[in-house]
Amino acid sequence: MKALVLSGGKGTRLRPLTFTCAKQLIPVANKPILGYVLDQVASTTIKKVGIITAPETGQFVKDYVKDGSNWGLKAEYIPQEPLGLAHAVKTAKRFLGQDSFVMCLGDNVTGQGLNTFVKKFKNEKLDALIILKEVENPSSFGIAQLDEKGNITKLVEKPKTPMGNLAIIGTYLFTNKVHQAIERIKPSGRGELEITDAIQEMMNMGFKVKAEILNSWWLDTGKKDDILSANAKILDSYIEFDVKGEVINSTLDGRVKVEPGAKIVNSTIRGPCALGKGVVIENSFIGPYTSVGNCSSIINSNVEYCVIQENVTVKDVERLEDSLIGKNAKVSRNQRNRTIKLHIGDFSEVEV
Ligand code: G1P
Repeated sequence: MKALVLSGGKGTRLRPLTFTCAKQLIPVANKPILGYVLDQVASTTIKKVGIITAPETGQFVKDYVKDGSNWGLKAEYIPQEPLGLAHAVKTAKRFLGQDSFVMCLGDNVTGQGLNTFVKKFKNEKLDALIILKEVENPSSFGIAQLDEKGNITKLVEKPKTPMGNLAIIGTYLFTNKVHQAIERIKPSGRGELEITDAIQEMMNMGFKVKAEILNSWWLDTGKKDDILSANAKILDSYIEFDVKGEVINSTLDGRVKVEPGAKIVNSTIRGPCALGKGVVIENSFIGPYTSVGNCSSIINSNVEYCVIQENVTVKDVERLEDSLIGKNAKVSRNQRNRTIKLHIGDFSEVEV
């Protein structure tokens, strides 16, 4: 079995961060989301991973994953224009050959590994296995309708009038029969070859397609608030009290991870929280569910429920909350008057 990890797309809803970074590389708990996806692939017996990349951000993905050996995997890159998930499979046909494969979206994280799904797929000799999770906004996803026995009766991509609330999450398992189905489908209204349509076509062709309900959390990190929720979930699930930096006259409360070279002075850190290498926190309060990337400084400020990337300065900010701050950014209070002074990139969002 192989893995196909989709790390392309334009990431328009995460601009301006996605002008200089692939959306799958935005860190949660100081590690790119794609890293968690590859961890899950690595915990199966799969060794070969094909990574779909976009023309604009492919190089960033390559610089992070390299040859895959950090995960014990052998990575191969497959450039694709963003024309849909089924189009990505079609583009990867040479890499996939006749093998079965797990397809994972590089910006989707779950609290459950892949092994139970791989086992079910193999034991029941399925042609496709999809994973479902209840959602509140079914019109934004591929939706599955099941009968009382749990068999799939219908699949629809982003239905205007949803026939249920079970969304197809970004983890799929296929045999090579998926390629025959992809050959038969046409682009959707948004001009993409939809994987949901291909799976429906597999059912129409009489192939064995089943669904499994995910029994953990799942996050699709397409927007700022999703990144913040994923950060909170990952901090909650994986962070333990582990302090390697220097702590002077400060209180560390709960599960706080502080990496080597970090320095905390006259401050309170309330976990779950992750502070990267060389971070400086001075005269500040860092509240729960906050990640601070390597070499960032937070001085005379209160910060809570934020993702702060590398090399950021936050200074004299009374309260910074629910924020996603890109690399090398500076956020400070204008001391002299109440004027707001901004120097921000295209597509930035500021709430004052
Ligand atoms: C894609 C799929 C959709 C699926 C979703 C999961 O949507 O088309 O069926 O439910 O991923 O994240 P997209 O991210 O392209 O809108």
